[in-house]
Amino acid sequence: MVIGIRKACSKVAIALLPLACVNGGPSGGSATPPPARDVVPATTQRAGDPDAGYVALVNNGYVSCGIPYSLYARFAGPAPASMRLPGRTGRNATLPYNMTAFTTKAGVEVVSANCLTCHAGHIKGRLVVGLGAADGDFTDNYGAAANLAGAAEGFLDTDAEKAELRKWAARTKAIAPYVQTSTVGVNPADNLAAVLFAHRDVATLAWSDTPILELPPEIVVPVDVPPWWRMRKKNAMFYNAAGRGDHARIMMTASTLCTDSVEQATEIDAYFNDIRAFIASLTPPPYPYAVEGARAEIGRRVFEGNCASCHGTYGPDGEYPNRVVPIETIGTDPALVVGSTQFADLYIAWFNASFYGRTARLEPERGYVAPPLDGIWATAPYLHNGSVPTVAALLESRTRPRFWTRTFNSNDYDPIAVGWRFTEVDGGKANEPDAEKKKYIYDTTELGYSNAGHTFGDALTTDERAAVIEYLKTL
Ligand code: HEC
Ligand code: HEC
Repeated sequence: MVIGIRKACSKVAIALLPLACVNGGPSGGSATPPPARDVVPATTQRAGDPDAGYVALVNNGYVSCGIPYSLYARFAGPAPASMRLPGRTGRNATLPYNMTAFTTKAGVEVVSANCLTCHAGHIKGRLVVGLGAADGDFTDNYGAAANLAGAAEGFLDTDAEKAELRKWAARTKAIAPYVQTSTVGVNPADNLAAVLFAHRDVATLAWSDTPILELPPEIVVPVDVPPWWRMRKKNAMFYNAAGRGDHARIMMTASTLCTDSVEQATEIDAYFNDIRAFIASLTPPPYPYAVEGARAEIGRRVFEGNCASCHGTYGPDGEYPNRVVPIETIGTDPALVVGSTQFADLYIAWFNASFYGRTARLEPERGYVAPPLDGIWATAPYLHNGSVPTVAALLESRTRPRFWTRTFNSNDYDPIAVGWRFTEVDGGKANEPDAEKKKYIYDTTELGYSNAGHTFGDALTTDERAAVIEYLKTL
């Protein structure tokens, strides 16, 4: 029955009727879907070496295709010091943190984007590995960029280089229509995964230019990139707890633009246990301003009475329950839990039957995980779709802006409201004729962008709310 609902929702209804889907809408006489599982069980993870994992993360060619280095070097010089990372070797030492150079099987040196494109971010001017990129801009049409790159073949000397460029451009064009967001700051990764699954033979992982499975809708369900340091506590990956079993196996699917055989996937998998161990070793950066200790202590008690049953307790004896809250209870935007993007039935089935599903599986819940709140001061905007700019607005729902924009400068941080400084905009995207300005407006009336739900802070008094916010700064 759940299958019927997901199917109906993932195709047509996702564009129009997400709420109807959640309420069991258009699937015709289905039984009431089961409630979300309350607590996500733990699974043992493969052991790994965090230090080796960091080295692999910032140096290895897990994306396995890219733009020939000779072409890249024509247009881009060495990265400024602020964009470089420690622990990088060879060419990578001078590339920006989110690009990796490596030599392909065909012997061509190429440059590709790496995990840190989405999983490194700036806060108060500082680059933090593992912080989600809250300023990622996926509003551009990458297909056009790939066409441009394709036209640059004339700059290349060897046929092998030309073949690498053509491969990269073809893949980029295949994914481009499905990863274009309407708003700067939100991320299309869940749709990207769906497209990559759809083009691959489930048994061999061979790429097919013609999609083998039906492609997802082009409308991107927006998500905010979660910080990696949550993975030291989380039993399942993803907002809807879909990522079960061997997390390393799931993480590597984020890099499969050109992973075209089981043999190649096995080679990458052999060091992803180390990358997972690195991710699980991360801790958040401490709040950089003074905290009022007495007020934070009051806040801790308010938190333990009103929030800890879902979000856990903190400090040396802290416990994190890994709780999934059903969509009807949490009331936040439902688009991601109705079976859209990589969480639609056909992609779940593909994943679970593939090489990736041998040790891991996708098993989404009909709700959202109450995340660990460690380092929450640094991870604005809030909720899984990044629809609320500050913790203060999250905890007093009537103050959440309906249409808002921000500068995307990580120094525009509000230490009192805890989150990004923002400006309310009249009328949303519909009222803004300038496309360049429009893409910077977060419009909570768009599909997937709702800022509703999570009203648990509303019943607190102003003083209690301020105290909880003070306490959250200490996590
Ligand atoms: C295009 C942007 C993008 C890239 C590239 C990317 N990720 Fe992600 N990642 C995301 C988004 C968005 C989510 C949240 C998806 C969700 O929960 O629905 C996520 C989730 C995760 C999570 C789970 C976090 C949690 O709290 O549940 C891990 C771990 C992770 N990614 C690791 C990686 C690794 C390792 C790589 C590189 C191989 C990578 N990602 C590449 C965007 C990206
Ligand atoms: C019934 C369980 C529940 C209670 C009680 C609860 N929360 Fe949450 N909280 C959630 C869930 C689930 C989410 C994720 C919702 C989403 O992303 O759509 C969340 C999200 C959040 C976030 C945003 C996390 C992020 O990175 O986007 C913050 C901050 C937060 N809660 C703080 C609190 C505080 C403070 C309280 C107490 C006043 C509280 N919550 C009470 C379940 C709960």
